[in-house]
Amino acid sequence: MFVRPPAPSCPAGPTHGAGHARGLCPSRRPVTPARLLSNDGPQPTSRKLRRATCARSTTRRDFLLAAAAAAPCTCAVCLAQTQAGKDAYKRFFAQALATTMDEYEERVGPRKAALLGSNLAALAAAAGRSPSRRLAVLDLGVGAAPNAPYLVAVPGMGRVTGVDPNPFMFPYARARAADAGFLVACGEGTEDGGDDASASPSHRPTFTTVRAAAEGLPFPDASFDAVVCTLVLCSVTSVQDTLAEAARVLRPGWRFLFSEHTAAGWSEAPLIRAAQALFDPLQQALADGCHLTRDPEAGLAAAPGLRLVEVERFTVPGMAFIGPHVAGVAVKKE
Ligand SMILES: C[S@@+](CC[C@H](N)C(=O)[O-])C[C@H]1O[C@@H](n2cnc3c(N)ncnc32)[C@H](O)[C@@H]1O
Repeated sequence: MFVRPPAPSCPAGPTHGAGHARGLCPSRRPVTPARLLSNDGPQPTSRKLRRATCARSTTRRDFLLAAAAAAPCTCAVCLAQTQAGKDAYKRFFAQALATTMDEYEERVGPRKAALLGSNLAALAAAAGRSPSRRLAVLDLGVGAAPNAPYLVAVPGMGRVTGVDPNPFMFPYARARAADAGFLVACGEGTEDGGDDASASPSHRPTFTTVRAAAEGLPFPDASFDAVVCTLVLCSVTSVQDTLAEAARVLRPGWRFLFSEHTAAGWSEAPLIRAAQALFDPLQQALADGCHLTRDPEAGLAAAPGLRLVEVERFTVPGMAFIGPHVAGVAVKKE
């Protein structure tokens, strides 16, 4: 009777047939990347065997490449590209912005109070000529709402809508707005602008947050009396599209109020300008896309829907290369 011999490399001998067939025998171990790398199979002894092994090593290489491509990389760069990594970064940036800007706000506060206070008071007076009409203000890139105390103090303020693409900003923004005295809407708003810019029945100004990018605002044309923009044109993807959208949602003749850090002039401050050029890529990576070398004044001068009517350049002391600033007023063209 013919008895089939076991595979020569099977150490369990001829009696373990079932185990061999189920892959329990070391000679039938499943192929794994570790085993492929260890190269522990039989070594080629003849030309035929060498050819077979060569074909198998091509398969091994493909297998290893496929395994490497499928395996999630855990290096910091790849982790940062995942949604969880992006969210963690946005959350961190929101917390950093909410907790580290007090000194900056103190230094820039008097200028902000003048810019926002006097302009918005004038707008409120104009709006107040029609009965029950109160101011509707859009705070672009609201962040942690450092402008809330200035806005709530304007007589005739109706509602402020804070727009930001980073939703992790909103808890900080709402808390600061509530502290300042706003009636804060719970959750995110879906503001549609609208003509009636009246405040809450108690006439306490309201504050709402809306998640959106400045380049695509979810509001109808001519739905705001003023657009406030502080430290935002440095971070948006497109300055041109942002200003076009701001002009679209403003009522004709009403105002865009801005205070931004800017590129220093090469002739006035060459060292600061050189440092801005040098650190620009690092600043973009660390500060959520903030550019050091943008010139918001040039962007505003070129914006088709806006007319620049007031510009002031100044330096915020102790702020290194984000010290050079430009602030002012642009009016929506009629
Ligand atoms: C430096 S912070 C300034 C926040 C606040 N306006 C202030 O004065 O502190 C920049 C803000 O712009 C927001 N931002 C970034 N890209 C934006 C975009 N495309 N549209 C609107 N806001 C944007 C950021 O999420 C962040 O809240």
